[in-house]
Amino acid sequence: MGRLRTNSRLAEDLLIELDRDGGVPLHRQIEASIRTSIRAGRLRAGASLPPTRTLAAGLGISRGVVVEAYQQLVAEGYLASRSGGYTQVAASMPPAAAGVGSAASMAAPTAQPATRRVDFGYGRTDVSQFPRAAWLRSIRTVLTSTPNDRFAYLDGRGMPELHQALCDYLNRVRGTLAVPGNVVVCSGYGQGISLLIQVLARRGARRIALEDPSSDDDARVLAGAAGLEVVGIPVGPDGVQVDALDPVDADALVLTPSHQWPTGGVLSAAARAEVIRWARRRGAIVVEDDYDAEYRYDRSPVGAMQGLAPDHVVYCGTASKTLAPGLRLGWMVVPAHLVADVTAAKLLADRGSPVIDQLAFADFLGRGEFDRHLRRMRPVYRRRRDALLDALRTHLPDLRPAGIAAGQHVVAWLPPDLEEAAVVAAAARHGLGIQGVGPFRIAGAGPGGLIFGYAILSESAIAEGVALLATAIQEVRGS
Ligand SMILES: Cc1ncc(COP(=O)(O)O)c(C=O)c1O
Repeated sequence: MGRLRTNSRLAEDLLIELDRDGGVPLHRQIEASIRTSIRAGRLRAGASLPPTRTLAAGLGISRGVVVEAYQQLVAEGYLASRSGGYTQVAASMPPAAAGVGSAASMAAPTAQPATRRVDFGYGRTDVSQFPRAAWLRSIRTVLTSTPNDRFAYLDGRGMPELHQALCDYLNRVRGTLAVPGNVVVCSGYGQGISLLIQVLARRGARRIALEDPSSDDDARVLAGAAGLEVVGIPVGPDGVQVDALDPVDADALVLTPSHQWPTGGVLSAAARAEVIRWARRRGAIVVEDDYDAEYRYDRSPVGAMQGLAPDHVVYCGTASKTLAPGLRLGWMVVPAHLVADVTAAKLLADRGSPVIDQLAFADFLGRGEFDRHLRRMRPVYRRRRDALLDALRTHLPDLRPAGIAAGQHVVAWLPPDLEEAAVVAAAARHGLGIQGVGPFRIAGAGPGGLIFGYAILSESAIAEGVALLATAIQEVRGS
């Protein structure tokens, strides 16, 4: 394995250009070229160089010239000879090479701000629990059984195996009415909403309604960039306030009905029906972001809205909260009349999501591994949520946790005497990372609240974090 890697770099990879008429000896030109690449960081510490014979053949020169160049760079400390005759970029650079952008400066640890003691940052899934062994089995199956021609360019919607596996899963677990022909695979919800907004804008949509507060970095920014007017629909304890919809004249509504982000409300059956009636009346589209529907602790799951009106709801799911955000795997179940446009937008964006990951996920779903993984993770997250609620009850009983029944975060509303920004700032001074609800509001005002992401924290870290917060709040109250 090591041998293969060591010898894998070819002469062409070094970008050495020789001027055979310029009067500068060839070995000097090679030295200068490699030295420059190392200083600029194009060749990093540990990178292997081609064997002298290979480089000489690639450049059409005698091997002795390359040997001379390598020896000089070894003498200067840029290169190191390894047993077996291999040459690598040295692990530590000579002082002259350690400038900005050099391999040495890139490898050196940069000065970090004082590390936080506890970070309640939201939106993080415990990737240390990624089901590696099961995923490896699926990857192995795909690589050993998939015919070569399946690795060619895609049609934009994704792999039929995954469409089918997603329909089977979503219709069984989320109560969707999905058919394989309406599924579009995308790179997470982030890309899904981006494609949808482009398509809606192109089809003449003027105004898009978002929950207020809502996830700030997706729909709000993208809609603005696509020229859509953004309006916020206030969110109450049970999700979006449906009676505020009619007056805003929106062409689309983005919702997190199964666990409102960030306030945690669940949209009631009556409110769902009312949203669907609104969409039918207006010919509007509802984008259902079902981002953490898999985690339900104290309540039975609520089916997806897409199952109520497949012609008006785009269902969006993601593997970011269940497996790992780095997979960049998401899926949409799109009303039939939008499938062609969304597919075209996906093709234009990136020519389709990676084949091997899609097939692996299809296999993973088909084997029941996704269900197994979720069954294993629910109690883990539940224990962390319980540790958070216990600690809040003990240290900060006047904070009001909300939306606790599901998901990977909890919002706790602050009592009126506490200003959100002051609490967040005091928490940071005590080594606690936490965000307020305020930055996610569209219209601006509203009660102060804190967002506790607990998914990747141990129970003891959660208790420590809440104790730090209590100290910070005491300080705010004292000042
Ligand atoms: C409200 C909401 N929806 C969906 C997602 C998932 O986005 P993606 O699938 O692009 O990782 C997030 C990520 O934190 C989120 O906050």
